[in-house]
Amino acid sequence: MNTYIDLKSSNNHMNIQIAAKSIKQGKLVLFPTETVYGIGADGLNKKAVKNIFIAKGRKQDNPLILHVCNMDMINRIAKNISKLEYKLISAFFPGPFTIILERKDIVPDIVTGGLDTVGIRMPSNEIALKLIKLANTPIAAPSANISGKPSGTNINDIFNELKDKVDTIIDDGECNIGVESTVVRVINNIPHILRPGKITPEQIKEVAGNVVIDEHILQKLDNEKDVLSPGMKYKHYAPNSKCILIYSKDNNKMVNKINDISKEYKKPLIISCIENKDKYLCQNVLDIYHKDNLDELSKNIFHTLRKVDLYTPDIVIIEGVKKDGLGLAIMNRLIRACEYNYIEI
Ligand code: TXA
Ligand code: MG
Repeated sequence: MNTYIDLKSSNNHMNIQIAAKSIKQGKLVLFPTETVYGIGADGLNKKAVKNIFIAKGRKQDNPLILHVCNMDMINRIAKNISKLEYKLISAFFPGPFTIILERKDIVPDIVTGGLDTVGIRMPSNEIALKLIKLANTPIAAPSANISGKPSGTNINDIFNELKDKVDTIIDDGECNIGVESTVVRVINNIPHILRPGKITPEQIKEVAGNVVIDEHILQKLDNEKDVLSPGMKYKHYAPNSKCILIYSKDNNKMVNKINDISKEYKKPLIISCIENKDKYLCQNVLDIYHKDNLDELSKNIFHTLRKVDLYTPDIVIIEGVKKDGLGLAIMNRLIRACEYNYIEI
């Protein structure tokens, strides 16, 4: 790392120019978005994009999202945008939403993993928007983490992991949302959710009249070839410790089951809501949100998953939530963190 730009406590956005210059020179910049931090590079510069894959240890068939700051930039990289796609863009951009569109030839193959589509997102974080505008190029950026690890939602969590791999770091404190954007592709004029996020199926249905939730969101893939979003194939978000996810609509049932499981281990660790903390017999309980406050849970979950290994538990037991609204995105990440080790009762 060469440059650290601290914008946590300052409104002085002048320094974003330094980061924009790095992008133009083909270097990597760690920057904030409202969802998670991204590792950005000039999305039209093949060599620079290749360095993102190297920095993350990411498989080349897993395409990157191009981050844009206005409609002109979308038109530079995508074509044949349908009426419904425009409707979704105007409803959810800027914001935690990614749309998969037919790509133009200007987009390098390395960005899209050779697909004829490209993922496009216009973040709402002001620093991100300014950076893209000043760099005057779409910024390719995956979540800021080594592949397989939980995405970075504050610089502290990822500093050691990534400091030697990027040229510039912009620190904007904690990300507001904490889970990555909703990824949508319109197929036969119906929006399909390939990855759930803060923009919920209900919100998409309200705009489009219809929505399909891809079956892979909560299930293990039987046939990897059929996957619409290559990122769904890979292990993700997992701590080193063994994890299990437990959910029941009936809170008492869930608590009892978690207590039963924890008794079978020497050093269990439980991730729970604040209201349930005292119901557990186990010593280590990380209570990270108020029950039903899914925004609080999504904001804290990746930081917590990164922290659990420090307790050297022999099992991490995680309370599940209802798979509605933002709960769908949270359960999608937790099921993967637990490598499909999931019990619903
Ligand atoms: O919130 C976010 O989306 C964050 C911030 C940094 O913007 N970015 C992010 O990027 O989560 P990444 O690379 O970690 O995840 C992108 C996901 C992957 O699952 C990838 O497979 C999928 O989007 N994706 C990208 N382009 C695609 C395409 N053309 N077709 C299908 N899926 C695509
Ligand atoms: Mg990621």
